[in-house]
Amino acid sequence: MDRITVSTIQKMKRAGEKIVMLTAYDYSTAKYADEAGADMILVGDSAAMVVMGYETTNQIGMTEMLVFTKAAANGAQRSLVVGDLPFLSYQLSVKKAVLNAGKLIQQGAGAVKLEGASDFALKAVARMTETGIPVVGHLGFTPQSVKVLGGYKVQGKSAAATLKMLEDAKKLQDAGAFAVVLEMVPEESARYITENLDIPTIGIGAGAYTSGQVLVSDDILGKYPDFAPKFSKKYADLRTVITSACADFVAEVKNGAFPTDKEAFHMPEADLQELQKLASAAE
Ligand code: KIV
Repeated sequence: MDRITVSTIQKMKRAGEKIVMLTAYDYSTAKYADEAGADMILVGDSAAMVVMGYETTNQIGMTEMLVFTKAAANGAQRSLVVGDLPFLSYQLSVKKAVLNAGKLIQQGAGAVKLEGASDFALKAVARMTETGIPVVGHLGFTPQSVKVLGGYKVQGKSAAATLKMLEDAKKLQDAGAFAVVLEMVPEESARYITENLDIPTIGIGAGAYTSGQVLVSDDILGKYPDFAPKFSKKYADLRTVITSACADFVAEVKNGAFPTDKEAFHMPEADLQELQKLASAAE
């Protein structure tokens, strides 16, 4: 089984084959997504919400992202693992950005992702690429800028905004990004951008015409309790499955149904007799 690489992803765009990316933040979810055929596993900073229970992605840092990246990379045999650069890990200087991107690579990521196409983001993408670190861009709704964007809003709704987003995507492409995530963008804008870029677009809430799709695994599994985005789809109801399994365990411990002899270990007969002898001598 060959590992998916940056050039596999680019070939998939040229062949018109849809690219599938799923988030994972731990060993077993990454393993299952990999076995299911996901081409890319994104260790997204959405971990801030779905793993850590924070309100925004801005509350997670490199410390957590390094641990989650290592765990997910340990589970992925075939998929290309993309480590997300969290808020303030790449905005302060190009040197710091490359260092943090390199740390994610050292944990097992095959690429990194960062948000926006500001001057510093473009410089960081160019330097990372020169250093040998493949980069995925992220345009449209960029969660780390939620406070500037004034909330969770669809981006690129007008013709002018679509052209500006295409210009940004081209700048990322020229700086060396090998793919770009388009988040919460009208289907028409995402289609226009996809058709006018060489690198693949991976959509999330961007309609059907991007080169690929990415969703948050906790959303498709029905595991995250606080919010279900309109653009996602629930393929399982793990919240119910998990809560009901936990409730069954609680009930069985309370009523004595668990553990049974099947789950118990036993002493060898000779040791048991010895214990009984010692116990009666001590009485
Ligand atoms: O952090 C994340 O999970 C992401 C996806 C929503 C693209 O950036």
